[in-house]
Amino acid sequence: RILRAAALTLAAVVSLGMLAACGASGEDNRQIIRIGHNQSTNHPTHIALVAFEEFIESKLGDKYNVEVYPSELLGSQNEMVQLTQTGAINFCVASNSLLETFSDNYTLFNLPYLFSSSEAYHAAMDDESITGPIFESTKQAGFEAVTWLDAGTRNFYTVNTPIETPADLKGLKIRVQQSPTNVEMMRLLGGSATPMGFGDVYTALQSKIIDGAENNELALTDNGHGDVCKYYSYDMHQMIPDILIGNIAFLDGLSEEERAIFEEGFDLANQVQREEWVSAVEEAKDRAQNEQGVEFLYPDTKPFQEACASMHDSMLAEHPDLAPIYEAIQAYNEQYPSGES
Ligand code: GCU
Repeated sequence: RILRAAALTLAAVVSLGMLAACGASGEDNRQIIRIGHNQSTNHPTHIALVAFEEFIESKLGDKYNVEVYPSELLGSQNEMVQLTQTGAINFCVASNSLLETFSDNYTLFNLPYLFSSSEAYHAAMDDESITGPIFESTKQAGFEAVTWLDAGTRNFYTVNTPIETPADLKGLKIRVQQSPTNVEMMRLLGGSATPMGFGDVYTALQSKIIDGAENNELALTDNGHGDVCKYYSYDMHQMIPDILIGNIAFLDGLSEEERAIFEEGFDLANQVQREEWVSAVEEAKDRAQNEQGVEFLYPDTKPFQEACASMHDSMLAEHPDLAPIYEAIQAYNEQYPSGES
């Protein structure tokens, strides 16, 4: 696995080097800005990044050439974060889950049942007094978060076991993201956590190495998991944002005017992505149900929530400095209580 990861990263870096060489030898003297992500070209995240590309090039096109690389072309998310850290690429999209291994502060947004509704989630993520201290906390590690992208609600789905209560997870191997919080969550819910990168999940499901996974509805269609998994259960355990991160040296090297334009671009990416997200989820659900034969289940979420409720207190005990931010999120939860549909 390690060898494969190293080979992939090497391949990415070599091809980037070749691309850079091509850029330098042509007449095109614009600086190439590379953005990597792990979704398909149909995905709201790709559509948003293309909007960002067009916006930046419309304003600063004589200086910058933005290139968006989808589908793990530059490596897995973990690899892309490392490439962004070193400046081999300028930006990538990483799930908030993975960022917790780079800064403890990110643990907060990975907590199960942190937000009471998607309205509370959006309001909290739009509030810079909440995200600011977290987004800036990786500067020393070489990158900074510049905006968040919606990744909906994470739910369990399995090849052939309907999940109605946490007890149904017992004995099942469930893929989770490579994050200590997610592993702990699975332990408390009673399933067996199998951490792996997103790109490996389809084959693992197909070859029965795992019994299921957890994600938003787009994983069923866009990533084909619904071809193998026939039960998708709305236990609503997490709303984990995706985060657009940028290399700090690149961002700090922008002039004040350029930075202002980039900030406008980041906001645009956020807006486009969340608008696209709503219809993408509806379409995914429809396709999963009608074309892939996935059955959607609506269990009582309370037993799931109770099983992992202790994680909130443990997180606060371990990271007392995050308490004010946690409290600010609770205020949004009160303002926008659960109205689950
Ligand atoms: C979602 C999320 C990705 C993440 C993936 C995963 O698709 O948008 O950023 O990589 O889940 O489960 O790994």
